[in-house]
Amino acid sequence: MPVAIITGASKGLGRALAEGLAERGWDLVLDARTAPVLKEAARGLEPYGTKVVALPGDVTDAGHRADLVAAARELGGLDLLVNNASALGAEPLVALAELGLAGLRAALETNVVAALGLVQEGLGLLRAAPAGAVVAVSSDAAAEAYGTWGGYGASKAALDQLAAVLAVEEPGLRVWAVDPGDMRTDLYAAAVPDDDSGRPEPSAVVPGFLRLLDERPPSGRYGAPALVAGREAGGVDGQAQAGPPGDRAQTDLGGGRGEAGR
Ligand SMILES: NC(=O)c1ccc[n+]([C@@H]2O[C@H](COP(=O)([O-])OP(=O)(O)OC[C@H]3O[C@@H](n4cnc5c(N)ncnc54)[C@H](OP(=O)(O)O)[C@@H]3O)[C@@H](O)[C@H]2O)c1
Repeated sequence: MPVAIITGASKGLGRALAEGLAERGWDLVLDARTAPVLKEAARGLEPYGTKVVALPGDVTDAGHRADLVAAARELGGLDLLVNNASALGAEPLVALAELGLAGLRAALETNVVAALGLVQEGLGLLRAAPAGAVVAVSSDAAAEAYGTWGGYGASKAALDQLAAVLAVEEPGLRVWAVDPGDMRTDLYAAAVPDDDSGRPEPSAVVPGFLRLLDERPPSGRYGAPALVAGREAGGVDGQAQAGPPGDRAQTDLGGGRGEAGR
């Protein structure tokens, strides 16, 4: 059975992705900081009958990251790493003029430093996998200048760039930065508490992530809503890595970023 590590899998998108993969027979290593919520999420996967190791912890803790990869090794290897856990830097979001620098550091630590740390920890297993892949859960805020989303958006832009460079350096892997679009989750509610406009449930975009695994398009940046809608087949909303930066194919089939969320 293939094995995935999904960070931030106790709720929201991470939990929905865990369910989507468990349904397909994947064994899973899951984390989140709040142990009872994580345990409950893992219990919800029992009907699928796959192996699920739920390890409470903080992705910014190097020892915890090592434990996650060790658990995957125990399950047989690592085929997919999903860096999904994320910090906003301020809740609710505030303008850059007021953004506490400690909050910005925290967002960078969770969204960028920990994500790379986990990649480094798992790289040996990913390289050894028959079809190793890394998913960096990105955001429209990485690419668009939305007021109050500056600190978080900067961290996601950095994550995107790490993913793009990793793809060049590790041509044997697929490295996809995926903007999931707006979703009705605790993270969004914490970011913008007064926004009660309807947003899709995270489960709505899971088929987009699964499509990446099925079709294995080139490494690059993708929009999950467009993947769900059947666009971007074999193309990218960003860069298809091929060689050094100047050589990269630029493909934009449209519809990827425009309708995505933060
Ligand atoms: N919601 C949206 O509209 C939207 C739009 C674009 C992109 N995204 C991205 O989608 C991803 C998932 O977000 P979501 O909306 O599903 O959020 P969510 O429902 O709030 O879930 C976040 C998950 O991450 C865990 N987590 C947070 N910090 C962690 C840490 N330091 N270590 C380990 N686990 C941690 C949380 O559990 P604990 O708090 O217990 O740790 C929870 O399981 C994020 O990367 C986010 O930036 C979301």
